[in-house]
Amino acid sequence: MLIDPAAKYRAFPPVALPDRQWPSRRTDQAPIWCSTDLRDGNQALFEPMGKGRKLRLFEVLLAIGFKHIEVGFPSASQLDFEVTRALIEEDRIPADVIPMVLTQAREDLIERTVASLRGARRAIVHVYNATAPAWRRLVFGMSVREVMQLIDRQVRFLRELTAREPGTEWLLEYSPETFSATELEVSLEACHTAMRAWGAGPGRPVILNLPNTVECATPNVFADQIEWMHRNLEGREHVTLSVHPHNDRGTGVAAAELALMAGAQRIEGCLFGNGERCGNVDLVTLALNLYSQGIDPRLDFSDINSIARVAEECTGLALHPRHPYAGDLVFTAFSGSHQDAIKKGLAAQDPAGRWEVPYLPIDPADLGRSYDSVIRVNSQSGKGGIAYLLERDHGVVMPRRMQVEFGTVVQARADAAEKEIASAELWSLFQATYLRAATGLGYVDHHLFEIGGAVQGIELELQAGGPWIRLRGKGNGPIAATVDALGLALRIDSYEERSLGRGADASALAIVEAARAGTAGTRFGVGIHSNIITASVLAVLSAAARLGVGAADLVGELSGRAESA
Ligand code: KIV
Ligand code: ZN
Repeated sequence: MLIDPAAKYRAFPPVALPDRQWPSRRTDQAPIWCSTDLRDGNQALFEPMGKGRKLRLFEVLLAIGFKHIEVGFPSASQLDFEVTRALIEEDRIPADVIPMVLTQAREDLIERTVASLRGARRAIVHVYNATAPAWRRLVFGMSVREVMQLIDRQVRFLRELTAREPGTEWLLEYSPETFSATELEVSLEACHTAMRAWGAGPGRPVILNLPNTVECATPNVFADQIEWMHRNLEGREHVTLSVHPHNDRGTGVAAAELALMAGAQRIEGCLFGNGERCGNVDLVTLALNLYSQGIDPRLDFSDINSIARVAEECTGLALHPRHPYAGDLVFTAFSGSHQDAIKKGLAAQDPAGRWEVPYLPIDPADLGRSYDSVIRVNSQSGKGGIAYLLERDHGVVMPRRMQVEFGTVVQARADAAEKEIASAELWSLFQATYLRAATGLGYVDHHLFEIGGAVQGIELELQAGGPWIRLRGKGNGPIAATVDALGLALRIDSYEERSLGRGADASALAIVEAARAGTAGTRFGVGIHSNIITASVLAVLSAAARLGVGAADLVGELSGRAESA
């Protein structure tokens, strides 16, 4: 790279528009959307779509709700000609959808373009010619005057040809290609020339499309350019002002959004931003950005996954996993603090209320995405994500301190595995950590008996690798009696129980938090059983085992009281 880039590149000059209005405008409705997936998007593919893929994508565009669809460049491609014919002859275009085809401003190409549309109910012929100084000088060797003469001649020619086909309702779209790099006065003159040549006026509207052919300035500059055109166009009421942003600076979406504030009424772009170089503007992101502001985008992305899969198959381009709204990872939180916030937000979210879940700009369910992928667990995960998965998939609601405790267990596993931990693996880890701990002390059976008053007696049978032992204890309930039966200096700090599942298959979940003299901190223990008392006993045994109690401790400390079975 150059030490002094100014020697090679110059800053894009600002637009003289001191009284610009767009910064204080708000967008409150969706624009007219025009998909150029089958033309601009298709032209940019390694392997352009064949007829089958084009027709498939066309159907998807219809299902999404596009009313303007650029179906191809029939004068440049025989396949596009055939596809256009097939759409018309096979009556595949609904009455409320207008097909559009692109043509350069050249007589032979215009003739072929009009021929491709014969028999259409309605059609937009999209005529373009490059207007910027570099193209005028280097590519075409034309003066501004010659450019205007070309536009006038070619649009008049199109007008004559289309007048011979009165069965079709014809619309002109004129694009001063390279608008963003063209002097504004020249663009304006080009647009006025096209309007006059077409006879635009009452009952004869026109689409003027202003492309950011190569994005070469910040989005506010594009917005200034659009507002300048919007304010200076004659016969503005007969014009649908359209923009066609590309994404060379990575700001295509921002440019389109500001252009709408500046007076644009229509946007051309592609699904997921496919298109030449860095792509056309991404219509999915634009539409869902509107949606997230409470504005009906009039495009339906409620099954965004299948739309993405069709787009990937048709274009051969994989969607980036972090693509806004549609990427595989965009509703996934890996970091613990995010997971914690999302879990709390999801729990607090009123299904009929305003969306207010931290870190999720919209409800994934609105796009047909499930919460399955909302939270995944890897070595960066915190307790929130883990707790969420256990609760969602197994109904296990962990007390807060237990979330912290189990979080460190999961973290250790994830660090060792160096990979994400799926929900099933998390459950195995939970079972190994808490449920099998009780089995380690060899729980076999227990019997409760009344001692009198508020005192409960328990007889506990264990077999942990040796003879069966019977332990007896008493307390003010089964948990206290179990602790007493173990004969250890255990302290129970908290106890929770809840039912898992419903009906005949329901089981009880008991969670205790226990401390043991000589062992730092507390440990949680868990028991799951169809009987709530058994679940509680198991929970105590689980906590004891996790506090380091082994079979030898029990036999040794209880000798004299235990007897072989
Ligand atoms: O990017 C562009 O300028 C175009 C025109 C043909 C509209 O695709
Ligand atoms: Zn383009």
